[in-house]
Amino acid sequence: MPTELPRYRQPVLPIEERIADLLARLTLEEKIDQLHQCGVGDTNPNNLAARADEFRPTYGSFILNGAEPDLALRNALQRRCVEESRLGIPAIFGCDVIHGYRAILPIPLAQACAWDPELLRRQCALAARLARAHGVDWTFAPMVDHCVDPRWGRVAETFGESAWASSVHAVAAVRGYQGDTPGGPDSIAACLKHFAGYGASEGGRDYSFTAVPDQQLWEDHLPPFAAGVAAGALTVMSSFNDLNGVPTTAHRRLLTDVLRTRWGFDGLVVSDWNGVLQLLNQGFAADESEAAQRALLAGVDLNMADGLYRAHLPALVRAGAVPPAAIDEAVRRVLRVKFRLGLFERPYVEPSALSGAAPTPAHLALCHEAALRSAVLLKNDAATLPLRTVRRVALIGPLAEDGAALLGSWAQQGRADETPTIAAALRERLPAGTELVVAPGCTIDGAGTAGFSAALAAVAAADAVIVCAGEAATMSGENASRTSLRLPGVQEELLLRVAAAAQGKPLALVLITGRPVELERVEPVYPAILAGWQLGSAAGAALADLLLGRAAPSGRLAITWPRTSGQIPLYHHERPRARRGREGEYQDAATTPHFAFGHGLGYTTFRHGPIRLSAGEVAAAGTVTAEIEVENTGDREGRETVLWFIHDPAASRTRPLRELRNFESAVIPAGGRRIFRWEIVPARDCSFPDEDGRRILEPGEIIVGVGGQRVSLRVV
Ligand code: BGC
Repeated sequence: MPTELPRYRQPVLPIEERIADLLARLTLEEKIDQLHQCGVGDTNPNNLAARADEFRPTYGSFILNGAEPDLALRNALQRRCVEESRLGIPAIFGCDVIHGYRAILPIPLAQACAWDPELLRRQCALAARLARAHGVDWTFAPMVDHCVDPRWGRVAETFGESAWASSVHAVAAVRGYQGDTPGGPDSIAACLKHFAGYGASEGGRDYSFTAVPDQQLWEDHLPPFAAGVAAGALTVMSSFNDLNGVPTTAHRRLLTDVLRTRWGFDGLVVSDWNGVLQLLNQGFAADESEAAQRALLAGVDLNMADGLYRAHLPALVRAGAVPPAAIDEAVRRVLRVKFRLGLFERPYVEPSALSGAAPTPAHLALCHEAALRSAVLLKNDAATLPLRTVRRVALIGPLAEDGAALLGSWAQQGRADETPTIAAALRERLPAGTELVVAPGCTIDGAGTAGFSAALAAVAAADAVIVCAGEAATMSGENASRTSLRLPGVQEELLLRVAAAAQGKPLALVLITGRPVELERVEPVYPAILAGWQLGSAAGAALADLLLGRAAPSGRLAITWPRTSGQIPLYHHERPRARRGREGEYQDAATTPHFAFGHGLGYTTFRHGPIRLSAGEVAAAGTVTAEIEVENTGDREGRETVLWFIHDPAASRTRPLRELRNFESAVIPAGGRRIFRWEIVPARDCSFPDEDGRRILEPGEIIVGVGGQRVSLRVV
C-alpha cells in the first residue's frame, strides 16, 4: 500500500494549499535558505560567482550565468536539492537572457526601433526556448527602465524613451518569455527589472543616486512595470539605485505598497546582485544585519548573491527584529513561483537537440528578420543607398571585421566566431566581379593613426565606400558609462579623412553602437548613415542586405539622437518652456535633436493624408476613431510606422508637448495605400497620473498628432 504523498507534492491540489503545507514543515533555517540565491559557473565580470562545492541543497535559487551553457551542472545541483535535502524542494535557476541565447537577437534598444510587439514576442519566445534547453527556468529580463541619458551604458538594454511604448514592449516580452501559461516546456519566468528609477542614474553614472520626482516616477518609470505585472510577470527585481534618499532595495513604499498592495503582484521580488549588501555602501544600514532586516521588511524576498539573509535573518527572527510572518510571506512568494513553473513536478531539464547546439537556420532566420527590422536609416541623401553595382568597394573602419561587437552587451552565450562580420557578409553577397577591399584604419578606441594611409589608399582606389564605426560591446551595458557620446578613439578623425578622400563617390556610414553617438562633425560629410546598433548573430547579414538593397530599412528611432552630449537629457516628451520661441535655447548649439524620436528612412517614400477623427468631441466614457491614410509614392514596397501622439494644452499638471500613445507598422506595396486607425479611449489615452499615481481625465482640448499634423479633439 503506497503511502500518501505529502500535500505539497500533490499537483492536483491548489498551489496555495501546497504552499501552506510545505511552509508548515520547514524549519526557520530551511525557510531562510529558500530566500538565498547564489551564482554558479562564470558570471559576468561585474558579478563573481561562488564555488559549486559551497552550496547547500536547501538553497532557493542559483544563477546559471556563463559563456558555456552547463546543463549537466544545473541538473546535478538540482539533483542535490531534490534528493539530498529533507523536503526535496527544487531550486530555481536564473540567467540573464537579455536578447537571445547563443542565437543573439538585437539589443533591446534596437528591438524597440522595429515598433513591432509581436516580433518582440517571437524573439523572446525563441530566447526562452533556447535558454530552457540549457536548464534556465527564469530570465532576468525584460529590463524596462526608463532612461533619457544615453551616457548610461544600460540605455542599450532599454526599450527606448517612451514609457508608453516600453509598456507595450514589456507586455510583449513577458508573453514571449512566459508563453501563454507559465511552466510550459519551452517557456521561462520573466523578471521585470530594475524596480525602479534606476535609469535616472545621475550623470549617466551607474549604481548612483537618482532624483525622480513622484510625478515623473508615475509618468515615466512605473508604467512599464505596472503593464508587465498586469501581463502576469512572475518576478520583479529591485534596482541598485538610491531613489530620492531611499535605496530601492529597501524601499517599502515601492516594493510593498505599490507593487503588492496596489498592483496585486503576488510573485517574488529578487534583489539585484549584492543589492542588500550595497545598502551599507549607500549609507542606509549600519551593518549587514540591519541591511538584511531593511531589505526583507521592505519586500525583497530573494537575496541575490551577497548571502546576508542566510547570515543574519535567523538571529534577527530570534531577536524579534523580523517577525516570522515576514519570513513566511517571502518564502511563500518564492515557493509560489516554483509551483507555478511546475518545478516540483519537473525539476530536471532533459538535454535536447537544442542543448549545446549552434544556432539553426530557423533561429538565425528570426535573428535576421529582427536585425533587418531594427536598423534605422538616419540619412540617405541622393539615394546613396542601396549601393549600386560597382567595380570596387572600400570597406573601412574598425567595426568592419568585428563579430563580437555586433553581439552587444549581455550576449554571454553568443559567440563571435559564429557571428559573420559585415565584411564577410558583404563578400558573400557582392556580385561576381566586384572587389571588396577592407581596411580598418584604426582600432575602436586606440590612438594610433598608422592605419589611416592604407584606408585612404583603399578609398582612393574604390568606386564606393562603406565605413563601419562605433563601439565595442563592452562600451555599453552595465557599468559602462561614458561622459561623451563621441565616437571612441580616433574614429571621428578617420571618418572625416575618409569622407574628404571619397570625393563624391557613394559613401555610407554604418554605426555599430549600444547608444546614439555624436555625429555633429561627421554627419554633414556623410550622405548616408545607417544606425546598425548591435543587431546580434545575423547583424552582418542584415546590414549587408540593407546596404545592397536586398531588403529595405524600416526602423524608427525609439530614442532621441542628440547633436552633442551637452544636450543630455533630450527627449521627445519635453514639457513646454515658460517662454516660447527661441528664448531659453542654447547659445552654442541647436536645441533640437540631430535625429528626432521616431525618425527613420526607407528606400521608398510615403505621403500622409490628413488625420481624420470620427467626431470632434468625445465623452469621457466614449471612444473616437482617428485615421490617417498613407500612400507609398515610391517604386518599391516599404514599411511605414505611424506614431500617434497626444498633447493636452491646458491641464492641472503640465503635460509634455508630445506623448506617444499608439503606434502601428505595416508594409505598403509600391503605389499602394493603407489606412492606419487608432481607437481613442479617453480614460486610457488622454488621461495622466497625478503625483500619487491616480489617473486623471480632464475635460477640454486634446491635440492628436502624427508627423507634423495636429488636429483638435474635445473631451467632454
Ligand atoms: C545586473 C542585473 C542582472 C544581475 C544578475 C546585476 O549586476 O544589474 O541586471 O540581472 O546582475 O546577473
